[in-house]
Amino acid sequence: MTALPHSPWAEAGGDFTIGLRPIPEAAWLEGGEAEPAGRKDRLLRRHPELVWGERPGSRTAQAEALELVRAAVGAAAATDGQPPLLAAARAVPDDLCLMEKVDGAWRLTALSLCAPSFFTAADALGKSLAELHDPVDGFSSRFLRRVERIFDALRPGLILERRNWTVVNSGELFTPHAAPIRARIADIPPQDAGRILHLRVERQTLRRLPRTGGALFTIRIWRAPLESLAGEPERLAAFARAWRTARPDFRNYKGFASYDTLVEAFLRAQGESYSVNGV
Ligand code: HEM
Repeated sequence: MTALPHSPWAEAGGDFTIGLRPIPEAAWLEGGEAEPAGRKDRLLRRHPELVWGERPGSRTAQAEALELVRAAVGAAAATDGQPPLLAAARAVPDDLCLMEKVDGAWRLTALSLCAPSFFTAADALGKSLAELHDPVDGFSSRFLRRVERIFDALRPGLILERRNWTVVNSGELFTPHAAPIRARIADIPPQDAGRILHLRVERQTLRRLPRTGGALFTIRIWRAPLESLAGEPERLAAFARAWRTARPDFRNYKGFASYDTLVEAFLRAQGESYSVNGV
């Protein structure tokens, strides 16, 4: 069974964090998908408004984003008359989000979003950092100013990476809407929890577009069934700890209450005895 390349629950536990760290340019995009264009083209045909959007005036910065992607992956990113950010996104597994400062606020001016975690291109396009994070409890009081400053101060050449995690009862990549997935939770037999519940990890990067002053935000989704932790006692214990000590706002935002019984059934089946109270 494929193990996830990242275990963000082991570092951040069950709390929201900014968690941005510099990475070398060679480590910018992780690759690892043979034909991202085929997957993305199918979604674009079926759900154009969910997976793609651009604001007028964003093409110059889009073209700069395409240059960076081309430099990273080689000549694979041909435009064939497509908007440059879309051409760039077809060449990589990652979703690509172009941020530009418009009237004093960092806004999403174009995006290709084929592995959404419960949001859509139509909803997100044009939103500011504050509006994008409105559903995240505590974001504006704990993080917004700092994140805006990071966007303002981002040095050309510096690449930042962050990761987050959640548990969801689906291994699909394309999950624009939460409701149809959450509606299936009640039908999951506890003995199948490890197979049906999935760890969903987002690996995100951020870098400046030096000429236009925009910023390119990338999102790569990795997922694996919970049972992929079964043979790895340390990762399993770190997950159990993060799950059982997650902060209430983090748990609420990610809907963990509806998975508690199932996750505990899985952990017990693994003999995972860690307890918050040490019992
Ligand atoms: C680089 C700085 C950023 C930081 C520190 C940050 C932080 C966060 C945090 C803490 C969450 C809650 C989920 C989690 O990560 O655990 C979140 C969710 C989200 N972020 Fe960001 N974010 C950043 C940039 C962006 C950008 C550039 C976009 C533009 C697409 C974006 C779009 C979102 C969306 C759509 C959500 C989900 C909100 C929802 O539930 O509807 N973030 N972000």
